[in-house]
Amino acid sequence: MKGSNKRSKIYLIGFMGAGKTTLGKTLASGLDYKFYDLDKEFEKKYKTTVDLFFKKYGEKLFRELEYKLLLSTGSLENAVISTGGGTPCFFDSMDWINENGTSIYIKLPPKVLYDRLVNAKKKRPLVAEKNEDELLAYINEKLKEREPFYRKADIIISGISLSAGSIVSVINSLNKINKHQP
Ligand code: S3P
Repeated sequence: MKGSNKRSKIYLIGFMGAGKTTLGKTLASGLDYKFYDLDKEFEKKYKTTVDLFFKKYGEKLFRELEYKLLLSTGSLENAVISTGGGTPCFFDSMDWINENGTSIYIKLPPKVLYDRLVNAKKKRPLVAEKNEDELLAYINEKLKEREPFYRKADIIISGISLSAGSIVSVINSLNKINKHQP
């Protein structure tokens, strides 16, 4: 029963700075799916930024509301959903994602994530106050903690050269999965 719309949702997971939003938008337009960014939806729903929300209410409440928002994506169809870097790592989220959609982990080594985050314009509360040494140490440590969740993804792709070609091959393999779905 669940399987009927399971394959019509693609969840992109991976560390902050991995390129989930960029790939998500490209995948969505290639598949003619809607694009849904969990952080953006959070900000719309709670009329604030994720950064301000963390400052005002803390991470614990953010994780609870983020989880609820994730569950609300269960009713979407034909959608690519870009999750936050921590989304799959709390509660039963990763198992839920795999039961409700196809998950893609965009994998990048710590040094590449570091280079991207150090130059990022987006304000990310978990790393905003860190100096460069602290940032690299944080990425190394957090990635180790989070990889066991990320590795449960249906598809793992390298985020290093996310060229149009590699995205097309992801789309093709997803179309194959769709065709084999009863
Ligand atoms: C977080 C990642 C952020 C956002 C929040 C917490 C995390 O999303 O959800 O700042 O725990 O890694 P992005 O991965 O889109 O930056």
